Amino acid sequence: MEGQERGAWGSNLGFVLAAMGSAIGLGNLWGFPYKMGANGGFPFLVIYLIMVIGCGVVVMGLEMAIGRNTRKSPILAMGQLGKKFKVIGLFGVLSAFVIMGFYSVLIGYSLRYLAGFGLEIFGGAGFAGMDGAAFFGAYTGNIGAVIGYTALAFVISGVIVAAGIQSGIERFNKIGIPSLFVILIVIIVYGLTLPGSKDGLTFMFSSQGMQILGVEFDFFNACRAAGGQMLFSLSLGMGALITYGSYLDDKANISKNAWVIPAADTAAAILAGMAIFPVVFAMGQSPAGGPGLLFITMHNTFFSMGGIGLGLGVIFYLLVIFAGVSSAISLMEVVASNFIDQRLAKGKPANRRQVVLGVSAAMFVLSLFVACDKLGGSVMTTGSAFVSRIGSLLDTFDFFASGIMMPLGAMLISLVVGWGKGIPWLKAEMEKNGNKFYCEKFFTIFTRYITPLLMLFVLISLALSYLGI
Ligand code: TRP
Repeated sequence: MEGQERGAWGSNLGFVLAAMGSAIGLGNLWGFPYKMGANGGFPFLVIYLIMVIGCGVVVMGLEMAIGRNTRKSPILAMGQLGKKFKVIGLFGVLSAFVIMGFYSVLIGYSLRYLAGFGLEIFGGAGFAGMDGAAFFGAYTGNIGAVIGYTALAFVISGVIVAAGIQSGIERFNKIGIPSLFVILIVIIVYGLTLPGSKDGLTFMFSSQGMQILGVEFDFFNACRAAGGQMLFSLSLGMGALITYGSYLDDKANISKNAWVIPAADTAAAILAGMAIFPVVFAMGQSPAGGPGLLFITMHNTFFSMGGIGLGLGVIFYLLVIFAGVSSAISLMEVVASNFIDQRLAKGKPANRRQVVLGVSAAMFVLSLFVACDKLGGSVMTTGSAFVSRIGSLLDTFDFFASGIMMPLGAMLISLVVGWGKGIPWLKAEMEKNGNKFYCEKFFTIFTRYITPLLMLFVLISLALSYLGI
């Protein structure tokens, strides 16, 4: 019975869709499109692609190789490569905790908005008659409601993870990821029929985005923004792909998957911008990034469209929820797999359900802090010079994970493979079962030299940017 052993993917396609699910998330929807517009449009896309190829593809390949080679969750996997590397896996598990601490709250917000638009369709007052900003303020200030919806986000994610690799995670992504692309296309096609919608594309793809925002192109800022965005968006540097890779069959071609998954993630990020900004501009709303875009701006946008806006609101928040949940389950699985493997190592049954219950409960406790912080409105932010400088408790969690742990983890993973285990070890894993090692030279040079250096740059420059330097 699934749940009593480690579990495995049903097919490579199932794995690839799950990895895409982990990668495609809130980061693609609210981070990438805005950052592209704010950092020069097309030049940002070029820098981003360089980061994806120079680090994303490489680290993704390395993580999958480590996972499949050891068939273990991150801490044990890294420990198997070398005792002293265990700490890298430990950092990963900690990051998964911290990211889920705020990610779950945001999925909760999306559930509330889905319910709101759903109610409005049936004539109810899903948003109590308030406009975007007023409702968002009222909702985020209502701690009881935020906690309730966050709990629902945990129940949904927990049920999927508890059902196991194949009957839970793989099955959800097989439906969720294709649906997500279909919804994106529907919104893009509809959005582009609206007058004024082309301005949304201009904002994202040309240098006029910077004029609209009143900012100047800054190459250094664009590079660090692209680097951080790439790591977060591809779920790298903290063992998510080690975990998913550990359930992968020897027949799968890792060096090919390492190109396919980032390509899909990048496509989703660009499509997200093409779905969001045309409708935002057509309805005369202003572009922004982060929670404000996903909730306040989109709320106002859909409401100003009349009846069809309510329908679009429902499918848009469904999209956000598919994207969010498919990522959240990978964050949960990183932590859960760790406990499952430790139980199995001691000869005990996996008890996946109980482990997932415990992990969800612990993550839920952490998310309570974010829920109660009201996006920076509580004493947890205002009372701390450090936190208020970064923005809010949510931003501080994000800083810890995306600004420090992920670039550090990605750098150390490349160094461990490039210099510790060595390229022959990597080659053996890539060529398992007679597979072809695509781009072997590229992987060799980047793993050893270029990727660690780029990650060092991202680590230092991002740490400075969160601190406002
Ligand atoms: N990649 C997701 C996003 O873009 C976030 C995410 C999911 C993640 N799992 C992760 C980030 C693991 C880092 C590590 O929204």
